[in-house]
Amino acid sequence: MASGGGGAPLAGVRVLLADRPGPVASYGCHTWDSPATAIRARHRRIGPRTLLPAIPRDARHDPNARFQAVWTKPPTGHRSHFCGQPCHPVWHGDRTALTGGMEDGVRRTATRRHYLMVRPTYFDVEYSINPWMDPKKPTFTEVAVAQWEWLRNLYLELGHRVEQLQPRSGLPDMVFAANGATVVNGQALVARFRHTHRCPESAAYLRWFREHGYRNVRQARWINEGEGDYLLAGPRLLAGSGFRTNTEAHLESQEFFGMPVVGLTLVDPRYYHLDTALAVLDHDTVMYYPKAFSAGSRRLLEELYPDAITASDDDAAAFGLNAVSDGRHVVLPQAATGLISQLRERGFEPIGADLSELLKAGGSVKCCTLELRAGQTEGPRRGR
Ligand code: ARG
Repeated sequence: MASGGGGAPLAGVRVLLADRPGPVASYGCHTWDSPATAIRARHRRIGPRTLLPAIPRDARHDPNARFQAVWTKPPTGHRSHFCGQPCHPVWHGDRTALTGGMEDGVRRTATRRHYLMVRPTYFDVEYSINPWMDPKKPTFTEVAVAQWEWLRNLYLELGHRVEQLQPRSGLPDMVFAANGATVVNGQALVARFRHTHRCPESAAYLRWFREHGYRNVRQARWINEGEGDYLLAGPRLLAGSGFRTNTEAHLESQEFFGMPVVGLTLVDPRYYHLDTALAVLDHDTVMYYPKAFSAGSRRLLEELYPDAITASDDDAAAFGLNAVSDGRHVVLPQAATGLISQLRERGFEPIGADLSELLKAGGSVKCCTLELRAGQTEGPRRGR
């Protein structure tokens, strides 16, 4: 491990060369791909000036070097540069994460993504439409907003683009943007919600896609809860049913997108959307919780993904499958510690998130994130 020489790093902060063995978890970290990005990094609290002298001298001009600033002990009084909340442990890539998969010849590559999110300004649990929702439990909207801001800023730090759709009062579940639509090749099939509480959300998505230059936009005829139940996995769409989206909607989506839809039946009410039971990590890798699926769907998943990561009961219950991957970084609930190690062993870089407030409504990382996939000729105008 190369820790900083030359210069006086802040107590409890170390700069590591990311291609040397490093700690498995710390109380906060940040990774840069090159000295140049390290210099540009918007690390307000510890500041690039403080970090730079700590970068090992021989690596400063190495364009391939990657660096991590790591808090090796809880930074007392330190507030996250993301959300201003006190820091909580953040899992980050270390040597295993960067090279572990390469032992099997796998090199994980991130691709830049484009997401649509809705700030939880009016978040609350006012009704119960899934087993996680208990309207009697208190909710704290400011905490939900801070946790959501953390996620949004993380996406930006990872280099992704994030659009925002304005939340509406009286729609407390609107933060779960994944449910708003499915977007593939610049075509947007907008949701038709099962529960009346969420039905008015569809109009906001229809308007947003039309105003942002998506030409093939319409609302689904059948009950269809968007990316909550549709996950693009390479050449196919995996589609859930059983609690929300209808099986008829699967055929409708196949017609709309002109790509094969593989129907999967969910059987455990706690995992009521496909994105609570399965996450797509890259074109041909998924992780899932077998017990959430019917016997036939389980066989189908084993056939399609013999090398899949499978989740334990505890990791599934921690909502660990509600994850967002860019091909390399996988953002998932931090309590899913088993999945975090499995991902690391497979060469991914897991990043733990604390979205405990949103979990009270039965949602987490993926639920808050709708991926916008532009087509060759159609797609969004430049983001604001
Ligand atoms: N309370 C919301 C509902 O039950 C949570 C939606 C979570 N979204 C998701 N993509 N799984 O509809």
